[in-house]
Amino acid sequence: MTKQRVLTGITTTGTPHLGNYVGAIRPAIAASQDENNQSFYFLADYHALIKCQDPEQVHQSTLEIAATWLALGLNTDNVVFYRQSDIHEIPELTWLLTCMTGKGLMNRAHAYKAAVDANRVDGEDSDFGVTMGLYSYPILMAADILMFNANKVPVGKDQVQHIEMARDIAQRFNHHYGEHFALPEAVVDDHVAVLQGLDGRKMSKSYGNTIPLFLPEKKLKKHINKIKTNLLEPGEPKDPDTSTVFQIWQAFATKEQTAEMRKAFEEGIAWGEAKKQLFELVNGQIGEARERYNTLLENPSQIEEELEKGAAKARAYSAPFIEKLRSAVGIRKIGK
Ligand code: TRP
Repeated sequence: MTKQRVLTGITTTGTPHLGNYVGAIRPAIAASQDENNQSFYFLADYHALIKCQDPEQVHQSTLEIAATWLALGLNTDNVVFYRQSDIHEIPELTWLLTCMTGKGLMNRAHAYKAAVDANRVDGEDSDFGVTMGLYSYPILMAADILMFNANKVPVGKDQVQHIEMARDIAQRFNHHYGEHFALPEAVVDDHVAVLQGLDGRKMSKSYGNTIPLFLPEKKLKKHINKIKTNLLEPGEPKDPDTSTVFQIWQAFATKEQTAEMRKAFEEGIAWGEAKKQLFELVNGQIGEARERYNTLLENPSQIEEELEKGAAKARAYSAPFIEKLRSAVGIRKIGK
């Protein structure tokens, strides 16, 4: 059986939080342990430049995200784990694909359309603040995926359109220059939890409501204590299904633990007690990884080494493939 090539990228703009862990990192590490898969996971640092023009932040986030994945047990012997910017063939492929991408296709991209809509609401020129990076970002993403002929691309719902665009672009290229690219498929797992943040909305950096994954223990406890609850007193029954505390509990607990907590809610567990138990559960699961994380941050050269090892593995695919693609479009040595 041929292995399924699974590829996904993580934009390096923030510090990983519990929502990233539950929704993306944990399932990705689990998928990488499946022998039927060949996994390519990368730090999308070129994508970071679209949203973030603070060099220190891009750099620091790259470091933190790499350390997080390694600390959580990503086995780089089974996975190709690399930094996008180390693969020079990706921007090169981006250009080849750009010349095969209809402008109309990019006009329809959600991220670009949202920026235009926001400008209209604010009475600004429709292209105010829109860079070409934002506009053509789906092409860079298509290059990420097509460079490695990925079959499956695990993403959140908001990214599905980009995978469909990558397919469109690949089809057009294949039609014009011959069959070079596998057509990728988005994989959206409806079973993974989308965690709620401190205020009950989706946990997201843009809402400022996150619980960073590797906070020192005391701070983790403080953050968990800040999760919004209601004014019900100890002893009063509480509704687990509308509670963020319960929702996060469920994402870390076994089935049995979840059933027990549900019962405790019905029996009126105090919010303080529920939060204390939540802290213990989460802390117990990430405590060891946090130690590894801190050790890695103290030894950044070890992280760099892993990434360079990953880049060499990735380039073993991308370097010969780009040669083939260059040749296909007519860019090759004269007389050969
Ligand atoms: N754009 C994706 C996000 O914001 C990250 C990403 C970049 C990606 N390149 C990719 C995801 C390729 C999957 C495949 O989440």
